[in-house]
Amino acid sequence: MIFTALFTLVALAVSARAAPSPNALAKDLQETVFQGDCGEDTHEIIRLTFHDAIGISKSLGPSAGGGADGSMLLFPTIEPNFHANNGIDDSVNNLIPFLTSHPTVSAGDLVQFAGAVGMSNCPGAPQLEFLAGRPNAKAPAIDGLVPEPQDSVTSILARMADGGSFTPFEVISLLASHSIARADKVDETIDAAPFDSTPFDFDTQIFLEVLLKGTGFPGTGNNSGEVMSPLPRGSGNDTGELRLQSDFAFARDSRTACFWQGFVNKQEFMASSFKAAMAKLAILGSKRSDLIDCSDVVPATVRTPVKAASFPATKSAKDLELTCNQRFPTLTTDHGAQETLIPHCSDGGQFCPGVQFDGPA
Ligand code: HEM
Repeated sequence: MIFTALFTLVALAVSARAAPSPNALAKDLQETVFQGDCGEDTHEIIRLTFHDAIGISKSLGPSAGGGADGSMLLFPTIEPNFHANNGIDDSVNNLIPFLTSHPTVSAGDLVQFAGAVGMSNCPGAPQLEFLAGRPNAKAPAIDGLVPEPQDSVTSILARMADGGSFTPFEVISLLASHSIARADKVDETIDAAPFDSTPFDFDTQIFLEVLLKGTGFPGTGNNSGEVMSPLPRGSGNDTGELRLQSDFAFARDSRTACFWQGFVNKQEFMASSFKAAMAKLAILGSKRSDLIDCSDVVPATVRTPVKAASFPATKSAKDLELTCNQRFPTLTTDHGAQETLIPHCSDGGQFCPGVQFDGPA
C-alpha cells in the first residue's frame, strides 16, 4: 500500500534502522494497550495528543515548546509533572515502550498515531487524519501552556489562539473529545468520573448534558475546576457525572454558547468538525507540507451506531440552561424513575480491559 510505504520512508529518514510498518504499530497498539476498547487507555492517550501538541506558543517563540513533538514521551520526568498534566503519566508510560519496539517512528508521530488508532475504537468517532514525519523534540515544553478547568473562557480562548491559532468554534469542536472522557484527578476521592452519561461513545450527549442545570457533586464539592453536574448519583464503581467548570462556562458564554448548543444531536457535524480541528492540532509545530499523508493506515472506526441525543431519565427541556437563542432540537427522555447510573466499563461490567506499564513518568 502506497501510504504504508511512504510512512515507512519517513520513519527511515528518522532512523537508519529497519522500519516496521505502521500497520504493525496499529496492531501492536491495539493488542498491547487499547484491546479494541474505547475505555480508559484510549481516553488517556487522546488527552495526551492534546497535552503534547498544545505545548507551543506564537507569542513566546520556539523555546516555549515544539508542539506535537513527543516531548511528553521524551522528557517523561519533566512535562508530565506539570499541574495541568496531572494523570497524564499513565498514557506516557503506556506509550514509551513503543519507542523501543518501533524505533523508526518519532515520538510525536507515535503520540498522534496512537490517538488516531485509539479513536477508531469509539463508536461515532471520525477516522482521523494522520500525517507522518514530525521531528523528535529537542526540549520539553515550558509549564503553563496547557489550559486548566478553572481557567476563564477568555484565558483558554487566548491560549488556544496563541498555541494553535484556534478559533472559538475550533475550540468547541475539540471539546467533543470530552464525550469520551472521565476525570481521575479533579476530585481525587473518586476514580473515572465521566463527563457525560455515555463515556464510551463519541456522541453528542456531552453537549446536551453540560447544558442541564447542575444539582450536585459526584464526590466531594469544592474542587478547583469543578461545578455541580446534573447526574451526580453513583453506586460503587459506577461513579456519578463530573462537570468541568470550563465546559460549563463554554456552554454558556456568549462567544461559544451557540457553537456548543449547535452540536446537540448533530452527530455528523460534530464528528467532522472535531476531525478538522484535530487535523490542525496534530501537526502543531510542523509545516503540513513537510509531512506525508498516511491517513490510509488509520484503522476504520468501529461501526457500532450511536444513539440520538436524549435527555437522561428524569431530565427534560425544563432543565436546560440556554443562553444561545437559536432553536433547540426536540429530544426524547430516557425511561426510568431514577437518575441514570453511568456504567463503569464499556461492556456494562465492573472489570474493564486495561493495561498499565511501569515507566519513568
Ligand atoms: C481546552 C480546554 C480543556 C480543558 C480545561 C480540559 C481539562 C480536562 C480535565 C481537567 C480532564 C480530567 C483529567 C483528570 O482528572 O483525569 C480532562 C480529561 C480529558 N480531556 Fe480535556 N481539557 C481541555 C481540552 C481537551 C482537548 C482539546 C482534548 C482532546 C482533543 C481533551 C481530551 C480529554 C480527554 C480524552 C480526557 C479524558 C481522559 C481520561 O478519561 O482519562 N481535552 N480534560
